[in-house]
Amino acid sequence: MHCRKCREKAVIGLPRHNAAFCKPCFNEFVHDQVARAIKSERMFAPQDRILVAVSGGKDSLALWDILLKLGYRADALYVDLGIGTYSTKSREKAERFAETVGKPCGATLLIHTVQEEEGAGIRELADLIHRPTCSTCGTIKRYQFNRVAVERDYDVMATGHNLDDEAARLLGNVLHWQEEYLDKQAPTLPASLEGFAKKVKPLYRLAERELAAYAVLNRIDYIVEECPMAKGSKMLLYKEVLNRLETESPGTKQAFYWGFLERQTKARPAPASMAEKDQAVLHPCMTCGQPTTADICSYCKMMARAKAGAPH
Ligand code: AMP
Ligand code: FES
Ligand code: ZN
Repeated sequence: MHCRKCREKAVIGLPRHNAAFCKPCFNEFVHDQVARAIKSERMFAPQDRILVAVSGGKDSLALWDILLKLGYRADALYVDLGIGTYSTKSREKAERFAETVGKPCGATLLIHTVQEEEGAGIRELADLIHRPTCSTCGTIKRYQFNRVAVERDYDVMATGHNLDDEAARLLGNVLHWQEEYLDKQAPTLPASLEGFAKKVKPLYRLAERELAAYAVLNRIDYIVEECPMAKGSKMLLYKEVLNRLETESPGTKQAFYWGFLERQTKARPAPASMAEKDQAVLHPCMTCGQPTTADICSYCKMMARAKAGAPH
C-alpha cells in the first residue's frame, strides 16, 4: 500500500475515500478535513476564543490537538463526573495532555468537579432523582459546557463528536422520527440569544477509526475504555450496525450523515429566523439565569429534586 499523495509506504488505508496515506500526509488529510468543516459550516474565525470540551478520550483530545496545531486560540474544559476509576483515569489523561501539549501553546484546561459543586457524583444524583445515569449526565454536561463558555466569554464551544457519533445519532432520531432533535443535529448551532454559547462539532467529517489512528500516530495518550455506564446503550448498537454496513459498502456513514446535512441546509430556515424562533420561547431561568423554555431550567429542576431526595 502506497500513500496516495507522496507514494511513500502508507500507514493507513481509507476505503471510504479509496485512498491510503503515510503519516505526514494522513495528518495533513485530518487537518484539512477539520479546516474544511470550520470553513464550510462557519464555525469560528482565527481570532475567536474556543472552549473545547475534553473527556480524556481520543476524539476530544485529538480535536484540541488539531485546533492548536492549526493555530487557533483553544482552551479546554473537563467535567469530572465522579464515576470511580473511569473518571480518575480520564481526568489524568486530560491533565497530562494539557501539561504537555496545551501549556506550551499557551492553552489552559479548566476543570469542573460535579462532586464538589453539586455535592454528589453523577450516579448518586441519578439515583436521587430516579433517572438513568446517562441522561442525568447529559443534562449536567450540556449545562456546564454552556455555562462555563458564557461566563468566561468564549466565542464558541466545541465538542469531539465524530462522523460515527453523528451518523448513529441520526439513525436513532430517524428510527423514532424525533423531528425536534433532527433540527438540532447540525454541526454548527448558533448562539441564538444571550446566555447561549455557539456550539460546533469540527470532527463531523472524520470517522472514529481515523481519529483513533490520528491519536496513536501522534502519541496522544487517551483513555481507551468507554464510560462504564454506556454498556449496552442504544448508541453503541447503532454504531455497530452502521459499521457492518460500512464494511460491506465503504462510504455509507458519510453518505447517510452528509446527505442529511445537504437536505437540511436546503430546508433549514435562515439562522436569523431560527434565532428569532428561539428568542420567542427562551428566557432566563428564575434560579440560575441560564436560558430555558420553562420558568426553571431542567438543570435547576434536577438539582432541586436531588436536594429534596437527599437524606437530611
Ligand atoms: P460522548 O457523549 O461521551 O460521546 O462525548 C461527546 C463529546 O462530549 C466528547 O467528544 C467531548 O467533547 C465531550 N465530553 C464528553 N464527556 C466529557 C467530560 N466529562 N468533560 C468534558 N467534555 C466531555
Ligand atoms: Fe455520562 Fe457515562 S459519560 S454517564
Ligand atoms: Zn437554572
